[in-house]
Amino acid sequence: MRDHRGMESEKDELRDAHGRSISDLRVSVTDRCNFRCQYCMPADGLPWLERGEVLSFEEIERLVGLFVGLGIEDVRLTGGEPLVRRDFPRLVSMLSAIPGLCDLSLTTNGYLLERDAGAIVAAGVDRVNVSIDSLARDRFFQITRRDALPQVMRGLEAIAAHERIRPIKVNAVAMRDFTEREVGAFVELARTSDYQVRFIEFMPLDADHAWTPESVLTGAEIRALIERTHELAELPREPSATARVYRFTDGAGEIGFINPVSEPFCGDCNRLRLTAEGKLRTCLFSVHETDLRDPLRSGASDAELEEIVRDAVWRKELKHRVNEPGFRPPARSMSAIGG
Ligand code: 5AD
Ligand code: SF4
Repeated sequence: MRDHRGMESEKDELRDAHGRSISDLRVSVTDRCNFRCQYCMPADGLPWLERGEVLSFEEIERLVGLFVGLGIEDVRLTGGEPLVRRDFPRLVSMLSAIPGLCDLSLTTNGYLLERDAGAIVAAGVDRVNVSIDSLARDRFFQITRRDALPQVMRGLEAIAAHERIRPIKVNAVAMRDFTEREVGAFVELARTSDYQVRFIEFMPLDADHAWTPESVLTGAEIRALIERTHELAELPREPSATARVYRFTDGAGEIGFINPVSEPFCGDCNRLRLTAEGKLRTCLFSVHETDLRDPLRSGASDAELEEIVRDAVWRKELKHRVNEPGFRPPARSMSAIGG
């Protein structure tokens, strides 16, 4: 961060006790979702938060403004499924107006994108990631429990029609005995479109607690599958980037791997998460969280909220312990955290 004389000044940056500087915030705008992905939600859904428990747009705007003042540059809106929140584009326009916010992005399952792409682009979203785990309609149904692949593909095309929104990332959660069969179609998509396709290792954040170490299909395994037919060359990356991205040496296209389980990137983690009900989480796997909603609603000043945030960030977890004996998954599933 630069001070008023334009000098490099570190005093205001959000830092943790391990020396990491925090510049990225994920904001879950709802815990609700119109899908029921196997690796996230139970078939019957979860008990949703009451309306009054969820932060209002004005509350989210105040907190994001405060975080940006503390050096947060990138904000990603997630859920649940963010587009199921009524009037979501209005929130995008409120946040995109915050001075100092460099990059406002969205992670969505794409189901409502055909309806909303124009409105969220007009509201000032910078980038969009769409989660798609299979390009085959029956297997898409098997994973998401919704027969929605054609609708999602129309949504993806609707957002891609806006040339300003680049890169567009397509994220697939990789699971053993499922994703192996998907790799060929995703490679084709990566080579014939300008979508950056990325495989994300399955993490123990599923509400059904079905995750086992064996159920993770690692990025290295998928890369080996691809390299049977296509040579890949790794592209340079930022230290805090979660994905290893490769290009095909014999043509266009990029493919990425996010390997939180087999190659944890906690050492360079620059992220915080805010849940839909206003809890600050300093790690996906946090056991402790810090409530911001009560102080907010009982009239805390910016300085008081800032103190609470700095204190929580200082205690950010060194790393996740997914690969250690005795690991216990957090009580929240991904939908209740915000990916
Ligand atoms: N492991 C890995 N990724 C997950 N996501 C949801 N649950 C899991 C999980 N258990 C992904 C979604 C989406 C993003 C928000 O998080 O597919 O891309
Ligand atoms: Fe919904 Fe995303 Fe969870 Fe799937 S992974 S159920 S789309 S929140």
